[in-house]
Amino acid sequence: MLTFTASGIGLGIARRLGQHGASLVLLGRREEFLKTAQAALRKEGIKVEYFAGDVRSEENAKAAVQLAIDKFGKLDTLINSAAGNFLSLAEDLSVNGFKTVIEIDLIGTYNVTKQAFPALKASGNGVVINISATLHYTTTWYQTHACAAKAGIDSLTRQLALEWGTYGIRVNGIAPGPIADTPGMTKLAPEAMEAEIKTRVPLGRSGKTEEIGDTAVFLCSNGASYISGHTIVVDGASWLYTLPTAPRERVAELSRKVEKKSRSVGGAKL
Ligand code: COA
Repeated sequence: MLTFTASGIGLGIARRLGQHGASLVLLGRREEFLKTAQAALRKEGIKVEYFAGDVRSEENAKAAVQLAIDKFGKLDTLINSAAGNFLSLAEDLSVNGFKTVIEIDLIGTYNVTKQAFPALKASGNGVVINISATLHYTTTWYQTHACAAKAGIDSLTRQLALEWGTYGIRVNGIAPGPIADTPGMTKLAPEAMEAEIKTRVPLGRSGKTEEIGDTAVFLCSNGASYISGHTIVVDGASWLYTLPTAPRERVAELSRKVEKKSRSVGGAKL
């Protein structure tokens, strides 16, 4: 299998899949991250190689796919988890800034998936998992670029599931919420206090990279053999959060007060 990024969510997925017996090739830009990840995974007995390259490069993607085939004989699973992001007001975001995020997230996902397609097809039961987000389900402040990219990825997931189902390839997505110890949390929620996470995430905590890994294991397994074209939200229900209309502890009291008033309208007993 081939997975991207040697840190954060990508690494969490690699670790869980490796623990379930997958042989891995990691692709990322920074060799020092790749080396560290490789050493940590090898310590756990996981077979792992890496290729230092950029998901935006056709040659790099081709070479990473070839490395997986040369080292492990095939490529049957692809995890697209590379992402680039930063907070920016749309009015301050240059066209190149917008384009860069689209190129890493959306075009990068298409590029690597396209280079992996012959191997995925040859495997007879290929699996692609695209890491998306929930940012674009409604709207998200300072994330115009990322919302556009992730909406495109979700569309790509459905389109490829449609066209490649005929080759036995399943294409799904995972949309993580706030996940602790990831570049995403450091860069996008720098001021998010634990207290705020407790309030805004119905399950009351941030997620763990391994929890995204567990979802990927499920999507790769026979248990998911009829699931394709779907993006699973793994966010502790946080995208569903809305402000309460009244404090929890006062709901019953307020509601009964209103009931009493309406029952005595005009002095008539109702
Ligand atoms: N606010 C506004 N614009 C920004 C920005 C910021 N914080 N950071 C970068 N940009 C703009 C740059 O100004 C540039 O546009 P310009 O040429 O008009 O000035 C454009 O984005 C490209 O920046 P550059 O640094 O050349 O791109 P890069 O390919 O080297 O890096 C990034 C890509 C910017 C996404 C970088 O943050 C990165 O490599 N991220 C990978 C890790 C990551 O973000 N993980 C989070 C996952 S959620």
